[in-house]
Amino acid sequence: MEIRPAVDTDATAVCRIIREADDARVISEAGWIHWRHTAAPDEHALHLVAADGSEVVGVGVCGLNRWTSSPGAAWCGVAVAGSRRRQGIGSALLDALLQTLEGVGATRATGFVRFSEEGERWATARGWERKLTGPLIAVDPRTIPEASLPAGFHFAPMAEAGPEAVYDAVVEAARDEPRPEPIDSIPYDDFISEWSHPDVDFQVSTVVCEGDRVVAFTEMRLVDDRAQHGFTGTRRDYRGRGLATAAKCVALRAAASRGVTRVTTSNAEENVSMRAVNRKLGFVPIGEHVIFGRDLGSP
Ligand SMILES: CC(C)(COP(=O)(O)OP(=O)(O)OC[C@H]1O[C@@H](n2cnc3c(N)ncnc32)[C@H](O)[C@@H]1OP(=O)(O)O)[C@@H](O)C(=O)NCCC(=O)NCCS
Repeated sequence: MEIRPAVDTDATAVCRIIREADDARVISEAGWIHWRHTAAPDEHALHLVAADGSEVVGVGVCGLNRWTSSPGAAWCGVAVAGSRRRQGIGSALLDALLQTLEGVGATRATGFVRFSEEGERWATARGWERKLTGPLIAVDPRTIPEASLPAGFHFAPMAEAGPEAVYDAVVEAARDEPRPEPIDSIPYDDFISEWSHPDVDFQVSTVVCEGDRVVAFTEMRLVDDRAQHGFTGTRRDYRGRGLATAAKCVALRAAASRGVTRVTTSNAEENVSMRAVNRKLGFVPIGEHVIFGRDLGSP
Protein backbone atom coordinates (compact mmCIF):
# COMPACT_ATOMS: atom_id res chain seq x y z
CA MET A 1 0.00 0.00 0.00
CA GLU A 2 1.36 3.38 -0.97
CA ILE A 3 0.24 6.80 0.34
CA ARG A 4 1.01 9.39 -2.35
CA PRO A 5 -0.14 12.84 -3.52
CA ALA A 6 -3.20 12.66 -5.76
CA VAL A 7 -2.91 13.36 -9.48
CA ASP A 8 -5.58 14.34 -12.03
CA THR A 9 -5.92 10.79 -13.35
CA ASP A 10 -7.11 9.66 -9.88
CA ALA A 11 -10.28 11.74 -10.35
CA THR A 12 -12.69 8.94 -11.24
CA ALA A 13 -11.60 6.65 -8.40
CA VAL A 14 -11.48 9.49 -5.87
CA CYS A 15 -14.97 10.75 -6.73
CA ARG A 16 -16.33 7.21 -6.52
CA ILE A 17 -14.89 6.78 -3.01
CA ILE A 18 -16.13 10.21 -1.88
CA ARG A 19 -19.66 9.45 -3.14
CA GLU A 20 -19.62 5.98 -1.60
CA ALA A 21 -18.85 7.54 1.80
CA ASP A 22 -21.61 10.14 1.35
CA ASP A 23 -24.03 9.73 -1.53
CA ALA A 24 -25.45 13.20 -0.78
CA ARG A 25 -22.15 14.69 -1.93
CA VAL A 26 -22.42 16.16 -5.45
CA ILE A 27 -18.95 16.20 -6.99
CA SER A 28 -17.77 15.56 -10.54
CA GLU A 29 -14.31 14.60 -11.73
CA ALA A 30 -13.91 18.09 -13.21
CA GLY A 31 -15.04 19.61 -9.91
CA TRP A 32 -12.46 17.62 -7.93
CA ILE A 33 -9.68 18.61 -10.34
CA HIS A 34 -10.75 22.26 -10.11
CA TRP A 35 -10.66 22.04 -6.30
CA ARG A 36 -7.06 20.74 -6.37
CA HIS A 37 -5.80 23.24 -8.92
CA THR A 38 -7.31 26.40 -7.45
CA ALA A 39 -6.22 26.14 -3.81
CA ALA A 40 -4.45 29.24 -2.53
CA PRO A 41 -0.79 28.58 -1.61
CA ASP A 42 -1.26 29.61 2.03
CA GLU A 43 -4.08 27.08 2.43
CA HIS A 44 -1.35 24.38 2.23
CA ALA A 45 -3.97 21.99 0.86
CA LEU A 46 -2.84 18.39 0.48
CA HIS A 47 -4.77 15.75 -1.45
CA LEU A 48 -3.52 12.20 -0.83
CA VAL A 49 -4.58 8.81 -2.11
CA ALA A 50 -3.89 5.34 -0.79
CA ALA A 51 -3.03 3.14 -3.77
CA ASP A 52 -2.78 -0.63 -3.98
CA GLY A 53 -0.79 -0.97 -7.19
CA SER A 54 -2.79 0.95 -9.77
CA GLU A 55 -6.00 0.84 -7.70
CA VAL A 56 -6.94 3.88 -5.58
CA VAL A 57 -8.58 2.58 -2.38
CA GLY A 58 -8.62 5.61 -0.09
CA VAL A 59 -8.49 9.41 -0.18
CA GLY A 60 -7.41 12.05 2.31
CA VAL A 61 -7.43 15.82 2.12
CA CYS A 62 -6.47 18.62 4.47
CA GLY A 63 -5.64 22.31 4.56
CA LEU A 64 -5.58 25.41 6.73
CA ASN A 65 -8.95 27.12 7.19
CA ARG A 66 -8.51 30.53 5.54
CA TRP A 67 -12.15 31.51 6.01
CA THR A 68 -11.82 32.19 9.72
CA SER A 69 -9.84 34.80 11.62
CA SER A 70 -9.33 32.24 14.38
CA PRO A 71 -5.62 31.23 14.16
CA GLY A 72 -4.49 27.62 13.85
CA ALA A 73 -7.76 26.29 12.41
CA ALA A 74 -7.57 23.52 9.80
CA TRP A 75 -9.80 20.99 8.09
CA CYS A 76 -9.33 17.44 6.97
CA GLY A 77 -11.21 14.41 5.67
CA VAL A 78 -10.56 10.74 4.99
CA ALA A 79 -12.58 8.14 3.08
CA VAL A 80 -11.73 4.52 2.34
CA ALA A 81 -13.48 2.31 -0.24
CA GLY A 82 -16.08 0.13 1.52
CA SER A 83 -14.39 -3.10 0.41
CA ARG A 84 -11.01 -2.02 1.86
CA ARG A 85 -11.95 -0.89 5.36
CA ARG A 86 -10.46 -2.29 8.60
CA GLN A 87 -7.00 -2.66 7.05
CA GLY A 88 -5.41 0.47 8.57
CA ILE A 89 -5.68 2.51 5.36
CA GLY A 90 -7.75 5.31 6.94
CA SER A 91 -5.33 5.55 9.87
CA ALA A 92 -2.32 5.78 7.55
CA LEU A 93 -4.00 8.57 5.57
CA LEU A 94 -5.05 10.42 8.72
CA ASP A 95 -1.55 10.22 10.26
CA ALA A 96 -0.05 11.71 7.09
CA LEU A 97 -2.64 14.51 7.02
CA LEU A 98 -2.23 15.44 10.69
CA GLN A 99 1.55 15.46 10.40
CA THR A 100 1.25 17.83 7.43
CA LEU A 101 -1.16 20.11 9.28
CA GLU A 102 1.07 20.31 12.34
CA GLY A 103 3.99 21.14 10.05
CA VAL A 104 2.18 24.20 8.69
CA GLY A 105 1.12 25.55 12.08
CA ALA A 106 -2.36 24.10 12.58
CA THR A 107 -3.36 23.67 16.23
CA ARG A 108 -6.78 22.06 15.71
CA ALA A 109 -8.78 20.50 12.90
CA THR A 110 -12.37 19.80 11.98
CA GLY A 111 -13.81 17.26 9.55
CA PHE A 112 -17.28 17.24 7.98
CA VAL A 113 -18.69 13.73 7.52
CA ARG A 114 -21.82 11.75 6.79
CA PHE A 115 -22.69 10.06 10.07
CA SER A 116 -22.24 6.32 10.41
CA GLU A 117 -21.71 4.38 13.63
CA GLU A 118 -18.54 2.87 12.18
CA GLY A 119 -17.22 6.33 11.26
CA GLU A 120 -17.99 7.82 14.66
CA ARG A 121 -16.32 4.92 16.49
CA TRP A 122 -13.25 5.31 14.28
CA ALA A 123 -13.00 9.07 14.80
CA THR A 124 -13.66 8.94 18.56
CA ALA A 125 -10.94 6.31 19.02
CA ARG A 126 -8.52 8.79 17.39
CA GLY A 127 -9.31 11.73 19.65
CA TRP A 128 -12.06 13.43 17.65
CA GLU A 129 -15.29 14.67 19.23
CA ARG A 130 -18.58 15.98 17.85
CA LYS A 131 -18.60 19.78 17.44
CA LEU A 132 -21.82 20.23 15.46
CA THR A 133 -24.53 17.91 14.20
CA GLY A 134 -27.37 18.51 11.80
CA PRO A 135 -29.93 16.57 9.80
CA LEU A 136 -29.00 15.70 6.23
CA ILE A 137 -32.15 16.33 4.20
CA ALA A 138 -33.40 15.86 0.64
CA VAL A 139 -36.23 17.02 -1.59
CA ASP A 140 -37.50 16.16 -5.05
CA PRO A 141 -37.31 19.63 -6.67
CA ARG A 142 -40.19 18.77 -9.03
CA THR A 143 -42.53 19.24 -6.04
CA ILE A 144 -41.54 22.86 -5.36
CA PRO A 145 -44.24 25.49 -5.94
CA GLU A 146 -43.65 28.75 -7.77
CA ALA A 147 -41.94 31.43 -5.69
CA SER A 148 -43.42 34.73 -4.62
CA LEU A 149 -41.53 37.85 -3.52
CA PRO A 150 -42.58 40.92 -1.54
CA ALA A 151 -42.93 44.11 -3.65
CA GLY A 152 -39.68 45.90 -4.44
CA PHE A 153 -37.55 42.79 -4.92
CA HIS A 154 -36.67 40.76 -8.00
CA PHE A 155 -34.89 37.48 -8.77
CA ALA A 156 -31.83 37.03 -11.00
CA PRO A 157 -29.57 34.11 -11.82
CA MET A 158 -26.39 34.44 -9.76
CA ALA A 159 -24.38 34.67 -13.01
CA GLU A 160 -26.18 37.93 -13.87
CA ALA A 161 -25.51 39.54 -10.48
CA GLY A 162 -21.76 38.99 -10.82
CA PRO A 163 -19.19 37.95 -8.21
CA GLU A 164 -18.62 41.31 -6.49
CA ALA A 165 -22.28 41.88 -5.64
CA VAL A 166 -22.72 38.30 -4.43
CA TYR A 167 -19.46 38.30 -2.42
CA ASP A 168 -20.57 41.24 -0.32
CA ALA A 169 -23.84 39.51 0.64
CA VAL A 170 -22.07 36.18 1.28
CA VAL A 171 -19.55 37.83 3.63
CA GLU A 172 -22.37 39.45 5.62
CA ALA A 173 -24.50 36.30 5.92
CA ALA A 174 -21.65 33.85 6.50
CA ARG A 175 -20.78 35.43 9.85
CA ASP A 176 -24.08 34.17 11.25
CA GLU A 177 -23.88 30.54 10.19
CA PRO A 178 -23.29 28.31 13.24
CA ARG A 179 -19.85 26.72 12.77
CA PRO A 180 -17.10 25.44 15.08
CA GLU A 181 -14.95 28.32 13.73
CA PRO A 182 -16.61 31.60 12.68
CA ILE A 183 -16.62 32.22 8.90
CA ASP A 184 -15.47 35.82 9.18
CA SER A 185 -12.64 36.29 6.67
CA ILE A 186 -13.51 34.77 3.28
CA PRO A 187 -10.70 35.83 0.89
CA TYR A 188 -12.05 37.33 -2.34
CA ASP A 189 -9.56 35.17 -4.30
CA ASP A 190 -11.15 32.01 -2.90
CA PHE A 191 -14.57 33.32 -3.82
CA ILE A 192 -13.42 33.97 -7.39
CA SER A 193 -11.98 30.46 -7.63
CA GLU A 194 -15.34 29.10 -6.53
CA TRP A 195 -17.04 31.29 -9.15
CA SER A 196 -15.51 29.16 -11.91
CA HIS A 197 -16.26 25.85 -10.20
CA PRO A 198 -17.57 23.41 -12.83
CA ASP A 199 -20.14 21.87 -10.44
CA VAL A 200 -21.75 25.16 -9.38
CA ASP A 201 -24.53 26.12 -11.77
CA PHE A 202 -24.65 29.92 -11.79
CA GLN A 203 -27.84 30.02 -13.86
CA VAL A 204 -29.65 27.80 -11.35
CA SER A 205 -28.07 29.50 -8.31
CA THR A 206 -30.32 32.46 -7.60
CA VAL A 207 -30.14 35.90 -6.00
CA VAL A 208 -32.83 38.25 -4.72
CA CYS A 209 -32.06 41.90 -5.42
CA GLU A 210 -33.41 45.22 -4.22
CA GLY A 211 -32.43 47.47 -7.12
CA ASP A 212 -28.83 46.44 -7.90
CA ARG A 213 -28.10 45.17 -4.42
CA VAL A 214 -28.04 41.43 -3.72
CA VAL A 215 -29.93 40.91 -0.44
CA ALA A 216 -30.42 37.13 -0.48
CA PHE A 217 -28.86 34.26 -2.43
CA THR A 218 -28.68 30.52 -2.76
CA GLU A 219 -25.97 28.51 -4.49
CA MET A 220 -26.44 25.09 -6.05
CA ARG A 221 -24.13 22.36 -7.34
CA LEU A 222 -25.48 20.13 -10.10
CA VAL A 223 -24.06 16.89 -11.46
CA ASP A 224 -26.31 14.75 -13.68
CA ASP A 225 -29.67 14.26 -11.91
CA ARG A 226 -28.37 15.19 -8.45
CA ALA A 227 -27.88 18.58 -6.84
CA GLN A 228 -26.64 19.89 -3.52
CA HIS A 229 -27.30 23.29 -2.04
CA GLY A 230 -24.21 25.36 -1.35
CA PHE A 231 -24.48 28.44 0.82
CA THR A 232 -27.81 30.24 1.29
CA GLY A 233 -28.03 33.58 3.05
CA THR A 234 -29.96 36.78 3.58
CA ARG A 235 -28.49 40.11 4.66
CA ARG A 236 -29.22 40.80 8.33
CA ASP A 237 -31.71 43.66 7.77
CA TYR A 238 -33.73 41.61 5.29
CA ARG A 239 -34.35 38.42 7.26
CA GLY A 240 -37.79 37.03 8.10
CA ARG A 241 -39.44 38.32 4.90
CA GLY A 242 -39.40 35.03 2.99
CA LEU A 243 -36.44 36.00 0.76
CA ALA A 244 -34.30 32.90 1.37
CA THR A 245 -37.33 30.67 0.89
CA ALA A 246 -38.17 32.42 -2.38
CA ALA A 247 -34.58 32.22 -3.69
CA LYS A 248 -34.48 28.50 -2.90
CA CYS A 249 -37.84 27.92 -4.64
CA VAL A 250 -36.51 29.49 -7.84
CA ALA A 251 -33.24 27.54 -7.73
CA LEU A 252 -34.96 24.23 -6.93
CA ARG A 253 -37.45 24.67 -9.78
CA ALA A 254 -34.59 25.58 -12.16
CA ALA A 255 -32.74 22.43 -11.06
CA ALA A 256 -35.88 20.35 -11.72
CA SER A 257 -36.13 21.83 -15.20
CA ARG A 258 -32.58 20.55 -15.86
CA GLY A 259 -33.59 16.99 -14.92
CA VAL A 260 -32.54 16.97 -11.25
CA THR A 261 -34.66 14.62 -9.12
CA ARG A 262 -32.97 14.92 -5.73
CA VAL A 263 -31.46 17.93 -3.98
CA THR A 264 -29.65 17.49 -0.67
CA THR A 265 -28.45 19.88 2.00
CA SER A 266 -27.70 19.92 5.72
CA ASN A 267 -27.68 22.50 8.48
CA ALA A 268 -26.57 22.51 12.09
CA GLU A 269 -29.31 21.76 14.67
CA GLU A 270 -28.68 25.28 15.99
CA ASN A 271 -29.60 26.91 12.66
CA VAL A 272 -33.31 27.20 13.45
CA SER A 273 -34.22 29.63 10.67
CA MET A 274 -32.50 27.71 7.88
CA ARG A 275 -34.08 24.51 9.14
CA ALA A 276 -37.49 26.24 9.17
CA VAL A 277 -36.98 27.31 5.54
CA ASN A 278 -36.06 23.80 4.45
CA ARG A 279 -38.95 22.22 6.35
CA LYS A 280 -41.36 24.60 4.61
CA LEU A 281 -39.95 23.54 1.25
CA GLY A 282 -40.61 19.86 1.98
CA PHE A 283 -37.05 18.62 2.62
CA VAL A 284 -37.11 15.35 4.62
CA PRO A 285 -34.35 13.73 6.72
CA ILE A 286 -32.19 11.06 5.03
CA GLY A 287 -29.30 10.98 7.51
CA GLU A 288 -27.04 13.17 9.54
CA HIS A 289 -23.96 15.29 8.88
CA VAL A 290 -21.49 15.74 11.70
CA ILE A 291 -18.53 18.08 12.17
CA PHE A 292 -15.89 16.39 14.31
CA GLY A 293 -12.98 18.29 15.80
CA ARG A 294 -9.76 17.69 17.71
CA ASP A 295 -6.69 19.53 18.92
CA LEU A 296 -3.36 18.82 17.22
CA GLY A 297 0.16 18.49 18.55
CA SER A 298 1.26 17.61 22.03
CA PRO A 299 -0.79 19.04 24.91
C1 LIG B 1 -30.99 31.18 7.36
C2 LIG B 1 -31.30 32.45 6.56
C3 LIG B 1 -30.73 32.29 5.17
C4 LIG B 1 -32.83 32.66 6.49
O1 LIG B 1 -33.09 33.78 5.65
P1 LIG B 1 -34.53 34.54 5.64
O2 LIG B 1 -34.58 35.34 4.41
O3 LIG B 1 -34.71 35.23 6.94
O4 LIG B 1 -35.51 33.30 5.54
P2 LIG B 1 -37.12 33.34 5.36
O5 LIG B 1 -37.61 34.67 5.74
O6 LIG B 1 -37.42 32.83 4.01
O7 LIG B 1 -37.60 32.23 6.40
C5 LIG B 1 -37.13 32.27 7.74
C6 LIG B 1 -37.90 31.23 8.55
O8 LIG B 1 -37.19 30.98 9.78
C7 LIG B 1 -38.09 31.11 10.85
N1 LIG B 1 -37.35 31.55 12.02
C8 LIG B 1 -36.57 32.64 12.15
N2 LIG B 1 -36.07 32.67 13.39
C9 LIG B 1 -36.52 31.59 14.03
C10 LIG B 1 -36.35 31.07 15.34
N3 LIG B 1 -35.58 31.68 16.23
N4 LIG B 1 -36.98 29.91 15.66
C11 LIG B 1 -37.73 29.25 14.75
N5 LIG B 1 -37.95 29.71 13.49
C12 LIG B 1 -37.34 30.86 13.16
C13 LIG B 1 -39.07 32.15 10.37
O9 LIG B 1 -40.26 32.12 11.13
C14 LIG B 1 -39.28 31.72 8.91
O10 LIG B 1 -40.16 30.61 8.81
P3 LIG B 1 -41.72 30.85 8.47
O11 LIG B 1 -41.79 31.50 7.13
O12 LIG B 1 -42.28 29.46 8.48
O13 LIG B 1 -42.24 31.72 9.54
C15 LIG B 1 -30.66 33.68 7.26
O14 LIG B 1 -31.02 33.66 8.63
C16 LIG B 1 -29.15 33.74 7.18
O15 LIG B 1 -28.60 34.33 6.25
N6 LIG B 1 -28.43 33.13 8.16
C17 LIG B 1 -26.96 33.09 8.12
C18 LIG B 1 -26.42 32.19 7.02
C19 LIG B 1 -26.80 30.75 7.22
O16 LIG B 1 -26.76 30.20 8.32
N7 LIG B 1 -27.14 30.08 6.12
C20 LIG B 1 -27.50 28.69 6.16
C21 LIG B 1 -26.36 27.84 5.82
S1 LIG B 1 -26.45 27.36 4.15
